[in-house]
Amino acid sequence: MTKIFISCALPYANGPCHLGHIRSTYLPADIYARYNRMIGNDVLLVCATDEHGTPIAVKADKENKKPIEIAKRYHDLIVKDVESMNISLDNFTRTTDEIHYEIAQNFFKDLYDEGLIYRQDLEQLYCPNCNKFLPDRYVEGLCPVCGSEARGDHCEKCGRALDPTELDEPHCITCGTTPIIKDTYQYAFKLSEFEDDLKDYIANNENLPANVRNYAMNWLEDGLNDWTLTRDMDWGIPVPLEEAKGKVLYVWIEAFLGYISSAAQWSRKTGNKWEEYWNDFVVHFIGKDIIYHHSIFWPGLLKAHDCKLPDMIYAGEFLSLEGEKMSTSKNWVIWIADFVKDFEPDLLRYFLTINAPLNKDSDFSWDDFQRRNNDELADVIGNFLHRTFTFTRKFFDSKVPEYKNPSEEDEEFRKAIQELPDAVGEYITNFEFREGLLEIFKVAKKGNKYFNDCEPWKAVKEDMQKAANCLHLSNQLAKTLAYVLKPYLPTKADEIAKIINLNNLDDWEDAKVPLPEGYEINKAKPLFKKIDDDVIDEEKKKLKENLNENEDENMSDLISIDDFDEVVIKIGQVLEAEKIEKSDKLLKLQVDIGEEKPRQIVAGLAKFYSPEELVDRKVCVVANLQPAKLFGTLSEGMILATGESGALLSPDENAEIGERIQ
Ligand code: MF3
Ligand code: ZN
Repeated sequence: MTKIFISCALPYANGPCHLGHIRSTYLPADIYARYNRMIGNDVLLVCATDEHGTPIAVKADKENKKPIEIAKRYHDLIVKDVESMNISLDNFTRTTDEIHYEIAQNFFKDLYDEGLIYRQDLEQLYCPNCNKFLPDRYVEGLCPVCGSEARGDHCEKCGRALDPTELDEPHCITCGTTPIIKDTYQYAFKLSEFEDDLKDYIANNENLPANVRNYAMNWLEDGLNDWTLTRDMDWGIPVPLEEAKGKVLYVWIEAFLGYISSAAQWSRKTGNKWEEYWNDFVVHFIGKDIIYHHSIFWPGLLKAHDCKLPDMIYAGEFLSLEGEKMSTSKNWVIWIADFVKDFEPDLLRYFLTINAPLNKDSDFSWDDFQRRNNDELADVIGNFLHRTFTFTRKFFDSKVPEYKNPSEEDEEFRKAIQELPDAVGEYITNFEFREGLLEIFKVAKKGNKYFNDCEPWKAVKEDMQKAANCLHLSNQLAKTLAYVLKPYLPTKADEIAKIINLNNLDDWEDAKVPLPEGYEINKAKPLFKKIDDDVIDEEKKKLKENLNENEDENMSDLISIDDFDEVVIKIGQVLEAEKIEKSDKLLKLQVDIGEEKPRQIVAGLAKFYSPEELVDRKVCVVANLQPAKLFGTLSEGMILATGESGALLSPDENAEIGERIQ
């Protein structure tokens, strides 16, 4: 028995899950975990939300919220998404959890004490307009290597991890200003000292797939620089050093440790030792965009800490949508929460697995989704199962009939069923999830052909044993399908198991044990339905309607007409005005805005206007502002005026009192 530590890359808590998250990490990790549990391996599958760093801070800035509020909102949504897709995580935590802080700070401290982290004076980008340093995603510009548009920390195009100062044509994402370079200091990790260890690791770890190995080798050949592990930012885990006040750990050093802290949290809950899993076999499922981090930084940190390195890093390639790159800012994306409202999660699990191998790019299109569902799941797998069960009920009293005097075709089919579990198992073990599912599909297709060739509906009248053999074997395949589909389509597999009266599908070996003659099955119910064209048309329409071509994440200072529409500004006339005692700025006004009663409004106009000057004047009033008390006086609106000069906005005389400005 092997103890296997499996992780999915930590999603940033700055948005919910979409199809891409599921395809590249959660689903493959879940298939692998479920299968390994079924063959008796002891599995620990962990993940967490990645809640620090600029992705969350930037989002919070935009929404005028605290980062922790953003993180909490998306953590909760991500938990739901993952549950709705039946990802069998043993633990899911957050990088804002206390254990995580402790583990991350200790890890840093240990390396610091070992002399592997040192203080580094350096220059960093600083926005003179926002008055702050611009780490990572606070800057965008052009990648110095490939020239594509890149974020400060990473170029998506060529996959390289970057330092913001390397960017060409950098600009502050908050205000667009070209940053200046300013002196500061940070703490850096002596990554360069581990170059040879890493080369050795990459070259000699036979498990590593080609994409990971090739990328990593190329990067290593260029040579490694030391790696800056801290940032000047408010949001993050404080650097655990007296002399580093105000600095936080770079999100990437601590995010990796989320694997460990999630496991440690699980250990506290269960009393089991996560270390036993780590020391036996470790598999990280990640997206292709973070190969650099997992093949260089993470093993470097682990080596420095004298820890065992991961045995396997599986990197899923990209998923596009209707042939176009997915984009959350343009809303060219399908969110999991939306998907599962309309379709069963297993249909998506099927599509995402069978459509392309994990190490190749894949595309989701509604037409392909419909086709695969209708032609493959419904017509082949569903049809085979349904025919088998209904026929058994109708002609064999719901009992598995006797298998006797088999023909050559019978025996050939029996062999195909027998061999299926091992074949699928071997594929999954080798991370070839698509091939495993294709194999299942192939045998189900064979089952349909066999059923057709046997023509049991005729045979029951002419050659009863032929029909019996056919249904005997078809039930065996149905049972085998329940087992081998379990890692892929857990809900559907359970539904099949229910019809066949199987208590559970826990043990893969049981897939090979034939159902005995006379074994009773239950009434069938249709397991897979076709999806109608109009349902698909509706989905396509939704996708197009939601597309927001103009939305650019950097332009979010702009508001839509709807946003503006929320502010109700009306023409008013000042009826009374008086000074507010003890305040040299405020006046208390009674303003008619065409309502039954005048509004009482406190305005900061005392320095610019005397009360007498205001009486009778027409003004512009924000009418739907929440009432507030200023200097103890209730204010039920706001009068529009400029800030510095205090100039009142006055409408032309023909403006009617109570009229809305729009
Ligand atoms: N949040 C990061 C991303 O989405 C991934 C972190 S994976 C880690 O790119 F576990 F290594 F942290
Ligand atoms: Zn700025």
